[in-house]
Amino acid sequence: MKTNEIRQVVQTRYGKFAAAAGRTVASCCSKPASKACCALEQGLYSGSELSSVPETARNLSRGCGNPTGFANLQTGEVAVDFGCGGGIDVILAARKVGGRGKVYGVDFTPEMIERAKEAVAQAGLPDSAIEFREASLDDTALPDALADVVISNCVINLTPDKDAVYREAFRILKPGGRLAISDILLTGPIDAELRERLQSMWAGCTGGALPEGDYWETVNNAGFSEVKIVARHLLSDPELNEMAHCPGEEYTPSPAANDLDRLSGKVESVKFTAIKPSLGFVV
Ligand SMILES: C[S@@+](CC[C@H](N)C(=O)[O-])C[C@H]1O[C@@H](n2cnc3c(N)ncnc32)[C@H](O)[C@@H]1O
Repeated sequence: MKTNEIRQVVQTRYGKFAAAAGRTVASCCSKPASKACCALEQGLYSGSELSSVPETARNLSRGCGNPTGFANLQTGEVAVDFGCGGGIDVILAARKVGGRGKVYGVDFTPEMIERAKEAVAQAGLPDSAIEFREASLDDTALPDALADVVISNCVINLTPDKDAVYREAFRILKPGGRLAISDILLTGPIDAELRERLQSMWAGCTGGALPEGDYWETVNNAGFSEVKIVARHLLSDPELNEMAHCPGEEYTPSPAANDLDRLSGKVESVKFTAIKPSLGFVV
């Protein structure tokens, strides 16, 4: 699939999900085994975090981590959420940076931004706390050196040009700024023909996942240093099955059973931090 086709497929699938989930009260993942696509059901958010977030944002949550839990956000900081979806992490971040801080939520799916704005209003946060940008992550149009922190939750695997996304994160971070990312990657390379077929389910978080070595090379090539793994989790087969058709079976087709077997034991969710060096280059 070409870059534009991938973007279109991802946007359409998440757009339909946002439109539908905003009308219903479906829980994040409805089946007991369905925990991988959903940081909520994995227990990665605390009870008090969840109770501070409106139901719309909880229903739309499709993260694989809790980046505000390890971003070490401080009062007064500026944070940008890459792929904010229904707004769960922008709301949590806004509570941490407080009135003197600021949070930007970037997402290219207009229906998601609409839902996230509703959630922010329901959360009772002032308009000035969070700004949204409808934009692709490789070109956010945010100013240079704006942010102390870029967070992202299960999104960068969905982007067709990860080099450009990490370069963009580097550009908008202040020198000394940091990444706090939760994402999906492969423990090693997979056959080209399997990768090709997986692209049909690109919205599911395996179609675009990079092999680990390529992923860290991308982060380092963008200029980041001090990559620290906070946690990693090898997906079980039921988790992999669920993750593969995220945000839900009705939006993303299930992969062939045989293809899932071949991916078994090769897909991980990883949480990590990294730093934009203060002088803007890696020593
Ligand atoms: C798996 S959901 C995660 C949403 C949110 N981070 C969460 O934890 O619930 C992926 C989100 O990333 C957005 N997204 C995917 N690719 C994107 C891109 N290239 N540019 C901007 N947003 C993107 C989708 O629209 C969707 O809202």
